[in-house]
Amino acid sequence: MPFQNIVFLTEDASHDAAIDLINEEAFGPGRFVRAAERVREQGPHDRQLSFVASDRGEIIASVRMTPIWAGAVAGHLLGPLAVRPSHKNLGIGRELVRIALAAAETSGSQIVLLVGDPPYYAPLGFARTKPGALTMPGPFDAHRLLAACFGAVDPMTIEGDIRHLNLK
Ligand SMILES: CC(C)(COP(=O)(O)OP(=O)(O)OC[C@H]1O[C@@H](n2cnc3c(N)ncnc32)[C@H](O)[C@@H]1OP(=O)(O)O)[C@@H](O)C(=O)NCCC(=O)NCCS
Repeated sequence: MPFQNIVFLTEDASHDAAIDLINEEAFGPGRFVRAAERVREQGPHDRQLSFVASDRGEIIASVRMTPIWAGAVAGHLLGPLAVRPSHKNLGIGRELVRIALAAAETSGSQIVLLVGDPPYYAPLGFARTKPGALTMPGPFDAHRLLAACFGAVDPMTIEGDIRHLNLK
């Protein structure tokens, strides 16, 4: 679909303040206690695979990708994904996920994981993982841990700790 006035850009440091505000607005202070956030705190996200949407110069949506290990498989954790209320339901969230997934696949990522709502992410290529097979540094709803796999990786066979790629 065409996005009037919306431009999708690779994230850079000049977007940081706007992204912080978007995530604060979308998730509130509770965002810092989520298990996925614990993983993101272990190391930096990958700006080359993270994207923003801009409406006539104003950053109105963001998706970030953090390099991870999922057990022995190298991949990325997608999130946070957030769109400003003024721009919801225009397809911007879906487009950001599509762009980030394509960039991850091109980069050689084997798997993209996220904690999210299956009805939103399933049409974008995400499938459920095996409940209990993957752990994070904190509790999460295992039925919302979803994976998009590239190559021969099967989301139901991945097991182990999800941790930043910097951690062995
Ligand atoms: C979830 C979010 C990123 C969606 O972005 P968006 O640009 O508004 O969504 P899109 O335009 O791509 O898609 C809209 C469709 O997704 C549906 N949708 C939105 N959130 C959904 C959810 N949590 N579960 C299922 N469907 C959802 C909408 O009902 C709409 O359906 P339709 O196309 O049948 O009308 C955005 O609403 C948001 O920032 N929410 C707050 C933060 C959040 O929850 N982030 C996701 C964490 S997993």
